[in-house]
Amino acid sequence: MNLVKVKNHEEMSENACRIIMNKVSSLSSPVLGLATGSTPERLYELLIKEYERKSITFSHVTTFNLDEYVGLGETHSNSYRYFMDHHLFKKIDIPKSRTHVPNGTGGDLKRECHYYEELIENVGGIDLQILGLGLNGHIGFNEPGTPFSAKTHIVDLDFSTRKANARFFRSVKEVPTQAITMGIETILRSKQILLLVSGEQKSEALQRLLDGEVSEEFPASVLRNHPNVTIIADAAAVGMP
Ligand code: GLP
Repeated sequence: MNLVKVKNHEEMSENACRIIMNKVSSLSSPVLGLATGSTPERLYELLIKEYERKSITFSHVTTFNLDEYVGLGETHSNSYRYFMDHHLFKKIDIPKSRTHVPNGTGGDLKRECHYYEELIENVGGIDLQILGLGLNGHIGFNEPGTPFSAKTHIVDLDFSTRKANARFFRSVKEVPTQAITMGIETILRSKQILLLVSGEQKSEALQRLLDGEVSEEFPASVLRNHPNVTIIADAAAVGMP
């Protein structure tokens, strides 16, 4: 793993933006894996700016998001589809048909999981996957204890995860109890992975990722088995003043 230490959230986002721009402009049909949450928000703003300055086009890009809450549809302001539409997709020239977020409202969720895996396979896999880091080491919504062999699946969310995400809802009770997430195996099949870590509250998880053992009890540790991972972490996350 390659660790890039930067000053703050802004520098982390700028670095990530450059890496994505290079990927998008160097491949004829790039496939990006995207994440939601607070961590990549600024990155998406920067990508929109670059698009508005005409220094990048997304017309040839395909995207797959990591996860989605079960029960929240695209018009629900806390669904990840809504987040992506409003923070990125509607503000750039990517065709909607090439943006993929698991559908957490369909009748047959297991089928949706298989279908999502197939879609990723059919485009030849993900070229660059963006990841955030959960406080308990989750990536996507792969909670501690998830087998490393898991493909896209339905998860019961840890209470700690629902609590961490309650800030986007009126109360923790409103945070869905389940989600669909790309599995660890799905994530590991990406050719390149970019993990973004920002803020003091993430420092313990980052330390454990860097120094701890590779274990299903700490899902992000699996990234140490991947040949092309870059972590961009800001000073607060690294534990530097
Ligand atoms: C959420 C998402 C993850 C995200 C992580 C960190 O639960 N499912 O995809 O990376 O937790 O979120 P944040 O960036 O808001 O800290």
